[in-house]
This record gives sequence, C-alpha cells and structure tokens, in this order.
Amino acid sequence: MTKYSVLMVCLGNICRSPMADGLLRKKVKDENLPVFVDSAGTGNWHVGNPPDERMRKTAHSNDCPIDDLRARQFQAEDFVNFDYIYVMDKENYKNVVQLATSEKDKHKVKLILNEIHPGKDLEVPDPYFGGEQGFKEVFSLLDQATDQIITNLKKAISNE
Ligand code: 4NP
Repeated sequence: MTKYSVLMVCLGNICRSPMADGLLRKKVKDENLPVFVDSAGTGNWHVGNPPDERMRKTAHSNDCPIDDLRARQFQAEDFVNFDYIYVMDKENYKNVVQLATSEKDKHKVKLILNEIHPGKDLEVPDPYFGGEQGFKEVFSLLDQATDQIITNLKKAISNE
C-alpha cells in the first residue's frame, strides 16, 4: 500500500526534477518503502518529452537510468495528490506556492537542498544552459538530498 507521495518539481521537468524523481524511485524500491514518487515542471515547453539527453547520460553512468520518464506540467491538483513537494530553486518555489489554496498546502512545498543544509535556502543550479560538469553536480546534490529524504520517510513510516 502506498502511504506517502512525493513530487519533485523544477522548471522544465527534463533535467533536475526527473533526476531527483529517478533517484528517489530507485531508493524507495531498494528499501521497499510504501512511497509513490513523481515529478513535474512549472513550465510547459517540454511536456511529453523524455529527460534531456545530458541528464540521461549522467544518470546512466551512475546506474540510475531515467529514460522512461516523461515531462508534465505542475498543476494545482498536485496539492491534493502529494504529501511532500520538493522544489529545486526559489523561482520554482514561488510558482508552486502561487497555486496553493491553503496554508496546509503551502507547507507541503520545500526547497530540496534544505533537507541537507537546513534553513540555508540553497538552490540546485539549473544545468540546462551549461556543460557536462553542471549535470554531475546536479546528480551529486540530488543523491545527497534523496538519501536524507529516505531517512525522513523511514522515520515517518516507523512512527505511525
Ligand atoms: P530543468 O532545466 O528545470 O532542470 O528541467 C531546464 C530545462 C529546460 C529549460 C530550462 C531549464 N528551458 O528553458 O527550456
């Protein structure tokens, strides 16, 4: 049974959030946790597309393929369907929170790097217009953040 649902959000849903999605999906599966994972973008330019090939390449070389994911746009209804909404940067935060209709929904939205650097409001840099190193950095940051999210989820599940 799925007990928790987690949504990863970035701008295009082809670089950062599909990588976060793929990493968390893999870890949830490895740990056999009752958690549903998905991702979305605040923009609609890439809807229906697979992740950017540079992100897929980095994902492959780290044994966490994300080729099967397809981009979709964040929608207000996601507040109904998800318990935790992790955004990659402050612009994503602003755009997602704008669609919240209650304080409870607003509190679901968190900058993902605050999981590993609490209160610092750091951002996962947008790698789209940069080189390969940017994608490697995104992977490393999201690998660390999703490890912490797994720890949090395990705690929440065991406290029930
Ligand atoms: P993402 O990266 O938000 O991590 O998926 C981007 C992808 C596409 C664009 C910008 C950022 N774009 O401008 O098309």
